[in-house]
Amino acid sequence: MADSENKIKSSEITPESVYLNRRNLIKAGLIAGTTVATGFGYRFFNPRPVKTVEKAEIENFQKSGEKLTDELTDLDDITGYNNYYEYSTSKTAVAAAAVSLKTRPWKVRVDGLVNKPRDFGIEDLLKIDQEERVYRFRCVEGWSMVIPWIGFPIKKLLEKVEPGPRAKYVAFQTFYPGSNPTGLKLPDGNNGMQSSIFAGISFPYIEGLRLDEAMHPMAILATGLYGKEMPNQNGAPIRLVVPWKYGFKSIKSVVRITLTEEQPPTTWNNATPNEYGFYSNVNPNVDHPRWSQATERRIGELGRRKTLLFNGYGEEVANLYKGMDLTREF
Ligand code: MTE
Repeated sequence: MADSENKIKSSEITPESVYLNRRNLIKAGLIAGTTVATGFGYRFFNPRPVKTVEKAEIENFQKSGEKLTDELTDLDDITGYNNYYEYSTSKTAVAAAAVSLKTRPWKVRVDGLVNKPRDFGIEDLLKIDQEERVYRFRCVEGWSMVIPWIGFPIKKLLEKVEPGPRAKYVAFQTFYPGSNPTGLKLPDGNNGMQSSIFAGISFPYIEGLRLDEAMHPMAILATGLYGKEMPNQNGAPIRLVVPWKYGFKSIKSVVRITLTEEQPPTTWNNATPNEYGFYSNVNPNVDHPRWSQATERRIGELGRRKTLLFNGYGEEVANLYKGMDLTREF
């Protein structure tokens, strides 16, 4: 068979134009095939999420006037590739598991070293002027996204409770059955949440900021993204977003905010103190003990890009850390 095929070339029995066309067709086919295969490959590793809870449009929010230099990450990727250990440690399984999260009624208790401690219903929080903020989001694991959040500066909430003179830090806590200070109860048992034994970290998830970091106008409590209320898997109904810090600082589904004098404990620092510090500012010069932080994979893109100090927000936030050695105080 191979011999007879070698004796006569297809170019000798086919007019050249047809032959060349055929070659172009094959080439085009190969390119198309490769593109589809790459697409399939990408989707294999990043499958589209299952149907999740439909969220309401946020009607009145101030659109971001910012000129975008980075392309927005696809909504499917933002809602289909998540870290939310209370639901699953598999990024692509979070969306389906978090369908059971009930976000009404929802209260956030703001207390500690403040003059006017109180509970805020989610309805009250949604009445605070909502703004769109398009931020880069860099996970400590080495991937990143660009997300059009909607929310408001935490500053606006903290001003309502009047921080006292001794307040130096702000502690945050995620909703978790049995540990919820506001008295909210989940309707059906564990509501799809997994136990901390499987997650490998303790619950409730806790985080913290210095008070001046929390008062920075770029630190927001986000109530939505892409024009709608927050998807469950992204931390409904309200979560922290601090774009110059690694993503794990951006605690989800917040139920309590407490002002303290001492630096509060935080989940990942408690779990592995030599790997995750309290500050966790994005820093390409300080490697994670197990991998480099010099580059990142932008979800939806091939290849890697350079990671920027403070995730590229140094001009706005570097002055918060004047005089600190960020390689030691990480
Ligand atoms: N908040 C809670 N309560 N539980 C979590 O597991 N994961 C953190 C952070 N907030 C987490 C959390 C981590 S590691 C990251 S990278 C971001 O949420 C992921 O947010 P996203 O799923 O909206 O991208």
